[in-house]
Amino acid sequence: MDKHIFLLGFMGSGKSFWGVKLAVHKGVLLIDLDRWIEEKEGQTIAELFAEQGETGFRALEQQYLHTLAGLPPAVISLGGGTPCFFDNMDWINQHGHSVYLEVPVDILLGRLRRKPTRRPLLAQVPPEEWPAFLEKMLEKRRPFYSQAHQTIAYAGDEEAFFEQLCAV
Ligand code: S3P
Repeated sequence: MDKHIFLLGFMGSGKSFWGVKLAVHKGVLLIDLDRWIEEKEGQTIAELFAEQGETGFRALEQQYLHTLAGLPPAVISLGGGTPCFFDNMDWINQHGHSVYLEVPVDILLGRLRRKPTRRPLLAQVPPEEWPAFLEKMLEKRRPFYSQAHQTIAYAGDEEAFFEQLCAV
């Protein structure tokens, strides 16, 4: 591997889950951008949102994104919103190979509902409004996600999905 592989996609699309598996397969490190920010800042994403608001968090997120440029090629799981702010999507595409994990809304919803959320953007929306919220956010974000070098669509078959991912 001669450059980073960036995994991007909506919350619940499996960026972290598949990122670990892909990194093992490729024999490289996995960097989960959210976990990395949390480790370096000594605060959870929810705490950072609460203290600095989304504006502060996005600035911090971009700052940590840029530090990835100096690291050896790795699999990088981005936050769901990372590609959608500032010129981040251009930066991502200039610094590695980007892969959009495209997952249908009903599957995203099922996954997000299965466990209590530590995601600040969802925590502020009543669960019965999640379907409309997700649809709306996805509509806004698709133009960014669709700039990825590659899209891998998940349709329920994990084996087929991972096979495509490994071929990246
Ligand atoms: C966000 C997604 C989260 C995290 C933050 C904001 C978003 O990451 O970065 O809560 O804007 O979609 P995951 O996609 O890993 O949940």
